[in-house]
Amino acid sequence: MLPACRTATRVALPTGAALKTISSRWGYTQNRTMTRHEIDTSPGFPRIRPRRLRRTPTLRKMVRETRLTADQFVLPLFAIAGTGVEEPIASMPGHSRLSVDLLAARAARAFAHGVPAVLLFGVTNHKDEVGSHSAHPHGEVQEAVAAIKRAVPEMVVITDVCLCEYTSHGHCGILRDGEVDNDASLLALAEAAVSHARAGADIVAPSDMMDGRVGAIRTALDAHGFLDVGILSYAAKYASAFYGPFRDAAGSAPSFGDRRGYQMDSANRREAMREVALDIAEGADMVMVKPASMYLDVISDVAAFSNVPVAGYHVSGEFAMIKAAAERGWLDERSAVLEVLTSLHRAGADLIITYYAEDAAGWLKESE
Ligand code: PBG
Repeated sequence: MLPACRTATRVALPTGAALKTISSRWGYTQNRTMTRHEIDTSPGFPRIRPRRLRRTPTLRKMVRETRLTADQFVLPLFAIAGTGVEEPIASMPGHSRLSVDLLAARAARAFAHGVPAVLLFGVTNHKDEVGSHSAHPHGEVQEAVAAIKRAVPEMVVITDVCLCEYTSHGHCGILRDGEVDNDASLLALAEAAVSHARAGADIVAPSDMMDGRVGAIRTALDAHGFLDVGILSYAAKYASAFYGPFRDAAGSAPSFGDRRGYQMDSANRREAMREVALDIAEGADMVMVKPASMYLDVISDVAAFSNVPVAGYHVSGEFAMIKAAAERGWLDERSAVLEVLTSLHRAGADLIITYYAEDAAGWLKESE
């Protein structure tokens, strides 16, 4: 008896037609009359069976298209003043604001676990209208950069360049008449970037979303001789609800209004190409999409379009969602995290910025 054919395409034959040879496709021949029901001419099933390549772990590994490695991870860290100070961040279990000494040790530990890079944020009480502390030569970030470079010189140190942690109003630029004044903010951002470069940063990462800031920062870095300091631009950064835990951590929530006047509208996909094209033209060495897991279409577009490496930022809210569900026993943390991070890489992210960097590096090593 032939196996039953369950696929859709079948030839319309007069019932009772003799088709002796057809059956050999199943490895045996029968001299008998087939019914219309038994004849399958579709190119797919039952000859084609994708499950053949999923049969064993070795086969699955051989045909795997995307390989997540710790080489692409960047761990965000929050720097505060003092020594020996650790302030746990309530909405980000496992993460703390760290004084520079502890932060350097944390970076060294991450590096030892295979994470090649950190992204630094400064948290401070020194706030004013224009965020002047952002360019302080001995600010939290500047000191943290120097401490990491002393502790682990090979580690890549990336610094976030923005004013929101340093302004009394919490906006990412300088205000005029209650609005963020784009052009007035550029100089302050460029000064902050130069101060990070002077402290030893390898890469500066502007996250403010002012127009023209990549060009302004490139010009300022070059003018000060920092020709080799790169720019990772937060090119497609969306106004997102998923930055909530970060703003608690960094004390950077806007005191009025929101960031929709400068960060992108989450409904826009095509506009991301425009932002990316402008930032690359202004001199960005790498571009970022943020948040990441809700914006896989954007990552995919940017990856196809960009001639520079693409980073995806799995942000604080994306971290917190998985963490909270895992704590309740509703998700298996390890497999959920590796699935999400793999998806970012599959969509086209070359670099992945994630609060899970160190855990994921460990999990990947275990599963080798
Ligand atoms: C600063 C900045 C933010 C994040 C990175 N840089 C917050 C914001 O734009 O409000 C968010 C990171 C995260 O949520 O993990 N502008």
